[in-house]
Order: sequence, then C-alpha cells, then structure tokens
Amino acid sequence: MRFEIVTLFPELFELTRTGLLGKAQDAKTIDLHTINPRDFATDRHRSVDDAPYGGGSGMVLMAAPFAAALDHLDAARSGKPAHKVLLTPQGDRFTQAHARRFSKIETLTLVCGRYEGFDERIRGLVDEEISLGDFVLLGGEVAALAIIEATARLIPGVLGNEQSTADESHAHGLLEYPQFTRPEVFRGARVPEVLLSGNHAAIARWRRKESLRRTLERRPDLLEKADLSEEDRAWLDELRRTRT
Ligand SMILES: C[S@@+](CC[C@H](N)C(=O)[O-])C[C@H]1O[C@@H](n2cnc3c(N)ncnc32)[C@H](O)[C@@H]1O
Repeated sequence: MRFEIVTLFPELFELTRTGLLGKAQDAKTIDLHTINPRDFATDRHRSVDDAPYGGGSGMVLMAAPFAAALDHLDAARSGKPAHKVLLTPQGDRFTQAHARRFSKIETLTLVCGRYEGFDERIRGLVDEEISLGDFVLLGGEVAALAIIEATARLIPGVLGNEQSTADESHAHGLLEYPQFTRPEVFRGARVPEVLLSGNHAAIARWRRKESLRRTLERRPDLLEKADLSEEDRAWLDELRRTRT
C-alpha cells in the first residue's frame, strides 16, 4: 500500500522509520511518500498561507499550492486513482472501521493542515474529511501518523502475527480481555488460575466474558453495535444484575 502525505513539515514523518513501520517500508509492504505544498508556491517568498478574507486572526492555507501538490501526485501515479483524505477537526471521527476500510485501498493520500486551517476550496479536492477526535491540534501531521499506524498494521505482513489484530480491542466491537505475562504473582496480584490451566476452551470462554465485562464497564455504548450471541447477552444480564 502507498501512503502519500501532503504536509508543510515532511520531517515529522521520519518517525515512521522506527519499529514495524520502518521494517514494512524496508520490505516494501508499504511505501510512504511526502510532498510539500511549499515547493509549489509561486511567489518569491514561497507563501502557502494568507490573511482570511473578511478579517480575523491567523492565516489560512491557500488553495493553489495544495491543488498543485495533489495534481503532481496524480500525474506521478500516471492517472491511477488515490483516495484523498483531509485531516480536520471538522471531519468524521476516525475509528477502527476507517482503518479497516483504508487498509484495502491501494493509495491513500493524507492532506495535513496548519495555522487557521484550509481555504474552503481545498475541501473540493478530496474524497473525505477525517478528524482524530474532538480536540484541536496544531496541524494534521499527528493525525496522519495515527491513521498511518492504525491502517498499516492491518495490512498483511506488517505485523508478525495477524491473529493479534483479530482479537484486539475494537476488532469485533468489544474491548480486549485483560492480558498477563510472567511472573504469576506481582506485588500480591495473581494471574487468574484459568490462564495457567492449559484448557483452551475454558481460556477462550473466560476471555470472552472478561471482554464483555470490560466493555460494559468502560464503553457500554459499544455494546449497542457489537455482534453478541445468546450466551453473551445472558452473561451481560448477569453482570448488570450483580452490579446493582
Ligand atoms: C489549528 S488547526 C485549524 C482548526 C480550524 N481553525 C477549525 O476550527 O476547524 C490546524 C490544522 O490542524 C489539523 N487538525 C487540528 N485538529 C485536528 C483533529 N482533531 N483531527 C485532524 N486534524 C486536525 C487540521 O489539518 C487543521 O487544518
């Protein structure tokens, strides 16, 4: 998969050279390409922003350098399409479902803003707008990095063990069950006996129940959309009864 990032701060994406993302690039499982709209500015100051029409504080990103950067990417792909995403606090809130959808796309282009944000006409150049959450960042780069990580780890070959993405939080609308590793006792807290039993069916049952318990306690909103069996519902009813 190819990630293209339109950014005024390409150096921030050096972070992707570390760990599994770095390895995935070395193995060519993913390809990351940054492009700086400033390189497409036409005045001698290489301006990419200007004061807002109508007055007000801050500077607004100009449409022309962003449009030229996107055109350049399109031309370099020889007309092959890319899915273009604008990073903005006004967008659809990013979830695991977006990451799953993006991981099946051949080329994802992420457009990062800065300053007071984009000239409204830049919105017409993209397919979708995404927000990392209900807060305001200085720029879109951290949001783009989060999207790249969440998406890339779902691409076959990026993680050593694909099963780990099948069981984890949000994979099936639930939070993950509690995990333990050695030692068996840490500061008086014991690993649950069932996990030491070697009984795989009992371990799977315990994990499902703990996953449901944790989701009920921390994110009951997720249960409304989760795929639940009769047994799951009975367990949730029991948990609700014992809580009150
Ligand atoms: C300071 S913000 C501009 C916010 C803009 N004035 C507004 O109120 O919507 C600058 C840039 O950071 C990025 N950004 C800020 N918060 C974000 C978020 N929650 N998710 C994604 N991108 C964000 C966007 O690219 C945005 O254009």
